[in-house]
Amino acid sequence: MLTLIPSHQARPSDDLIFALSGEAQRRKAAGESVVNATLGTLMNDDGTLAVMDTAARALHEVKRDDWAAYAPIAGTPDFLKAVIHDYFRNAPDLEAVACAAATPGGTGALRHAISNFLEPGQSLLTTAFFWGPYQTLCDEQDRKVDTFPMFSADGQLDVAALDQKLGEHLARQGRVLLFLNDPCHNPTGYSMTQEEWRAVVQRLLARADQGPVTLLVDTAYYLYGGRADPRAFIDELKPLVGKVGLLFAWSASKSFTHYGLRVGALVACVADAREREKTAAALSYSCRGTWSNCNRGGLALITRLLTDGTLARACDLEREAFKAMLTARVNTFNRLAKQKGLRYPRYEGGFFVTVFADDWQDRHARMKEAGVFCVPQKGALRAALCSVAERDVARLVEALAR
Ligand SMILES: Cc1ncc(COP(=O)(O)O)c(C=O)c1O
Repeated sequence: MLTLIPSHQARPSDDLIFALSGEAQRRKAAGESVVNATLGTLMNDDGTLAVMDTAARALHEVKRDDWAAYAPIAGTPDFLKAVIHDYFRNAPDLEAVACAAATPGGTGALRHAISNFLEPGQSLLTTAFFWGPYQTLCDEQDRKVDTFPMFSADGQLDVAALDQKLGEHLARQGRVLLFLNDPCHNPTGYSMTQEEWRAVVQRLLARADQGPVTLLVDTAYYLYGGRADPRAFIDELKPLVGKVGLLFAWSASKSFTHYGLRVGALVACVADAREREKTAAALSYSCRGTWSNCNRGGLALITRLLTDGTLARACDLEREAFKAMLTARVNTFNRLAKQKGLRYPRYEGGFFVTVFADDWQDRHARMKEAGVFCVPQKGALRAALCSVAERDVARLVEALAR
């Protein structure tokens, strides 16, 4: 007798992306020439996983007792301090009001934001194109996802549509939790400009007296953006402090190419000291009530990579080399995709790009038949350039355009 609760009885066991990638790998192992643009891990052009040598070496220097012992519930204080400083090295006013909790990857941070800034039954607000696990995280916690059209007719972030939804959420549920994944949005590849951030901040501030509004910036890919200063957007967010809840989902997965280490953090900027204490306590409580505490060895490694000047510089250099590899693919994609007339958002860098296609289901099936794997979504196809060798980008574009 199936004793699962009815609402969980039809849950899919495999995620679409992992299923498609599995099929691509099986066909490749059987001798077929395959382009696998499904998975969001950075691969070298030779098909091996791109891993920072410095991080991989330092991992083996983490002490035995750090791997063996429990971490404090909310994470080791030096890890939390290092992550906060990583974001706010140029924003001491934000650093002074930040608190944090360690989480297993950015995913854990998103989970804590949903459980602590929405009541059960309420809806998270995000862009119409969004990372699928936002839905899973909400399903798991009896919350819902609602979206606003991401792009206006001129291809910019549709700030007016966002504002309309802010108003709806405040009227309907008395609060807003907005997730924006930027820069290098997954799945579209879009990176907001400073002006777009400023416009979003203005709308959030204008709505703040109608009820509690919280913004979470999901920065999973922020060190891979196409702009010179990956932290520049933080300047635009300063006016929110004390008026709008400000959260950041930090992740070591991409930033230090250690996806399986499961290190991340939820960072909150709270102006009032007592409110900050309450926020930190609620996040810590959530840690205890879900995973209890994180992997102490992983926290120790990432703390060292962030705070040891020599190691931090070595990681920055290795990341720059990976970024250059990715940028070469992005440039090739942009050149060829424009020639073929593909429709896609402004793409300056990052792991993914999404090509709009009305016949997305048929096109996806035809691509798969031709050995080119990407991820279908309503009205579009997501290609993970992070896992496609530069020499294969032409074949990917050709298949997308056919
Ligand atoms: C948009 C987005 N947010 C967050 C994450 C979190 O990743 P992790 O939990 O490995 O840090 C990912 C990973 O793919 C992502 O694509």
